[in-house]
Amino acid sequence: MAQVDQNEMKRIAAEKAVETFVKDGMTVGLGTGSTAYFVILKVAELVKQGYKLKCVATSVASENLALENGIPIVDLNDVDHVDVTIDGADEVDPKMNLIKGLGGALLREKIVAAASVEEIIVVDESKLVEKIGTRCSLPVEVLPFGHLKTAYGLKRQGCEPVLRMKGSEPFVTDGGNLIYDCRFDGGIDYLSFKESALDAIPGVVECGLFINMVRAVVIAHKDGSVEIRE
Ligand code: A5P
Repeated sequence: MAQVDQNEMKRIAAEKAVETFVKDGMTVGLGTGSTAYFVILKVAELVKQGYKLKCVATSVASENLALENGIPIVDLNDVDHVDVTIDGADEVDPKMNLIKGLGGALLREKIVAAASVEEIIVVDESKLVEKIGTRCSLPVEVLPFGHLKTAYGLKRQGCEPVLRMKGSEPFVTDGGNLIYDCRFDGGIDYLSFKESALDAIPGVVECGLFINMVRAVVIAHKDGSVEIRE
């Protein structure tokens, strides 16, 4: 049977999610990353067809892509709530818990997700895991001030934190912060406890665990089929 490549899987999942969950008149949260890229292009098609949408972006990159494609962007502060946000993820477990943030936008993504009635996740099947933390490291956004001390606090939570770099300089988020990618051997147990413990470390701004925030996951498979898990 013919198989589709990963980029095509991302496009299929993104388009299905927009077709299924975005309705005329909604305020829509636009995710960040290579799968959310296809979400934004599909939302742009709806706007061209005459849909009256207001959109909130989860990163400067997504905002720029949206504006280039004629999508009206509003400030999150200027809307009462977001009806639906469609975003990618780096890991999805069977309970629809996530790791996000490999693209560096986890903080704005989490703020927008928390302000959304429905958080919809779009992934190709490679993102599915049995246990969170087994496929990738957990990104944690930290303040630049004293970040080596914050990293010590992260290490005491049982992980190996690695400062994310961009070339020879530390990677800087849209919020002006740094990211530590934290490898937990054997994955992460007791997700809610771990999220609370990480977020309580002085200097930590937010971690990339998204627990009980997701309404549905749209998954594209290698055979070109798409599944909606709710
Ligand atoms: C951005 O910070 C991330 O949370 C992305 O949503 C996530 O990394 C998924 O990105 P891709 O769709 O590019 O894999």
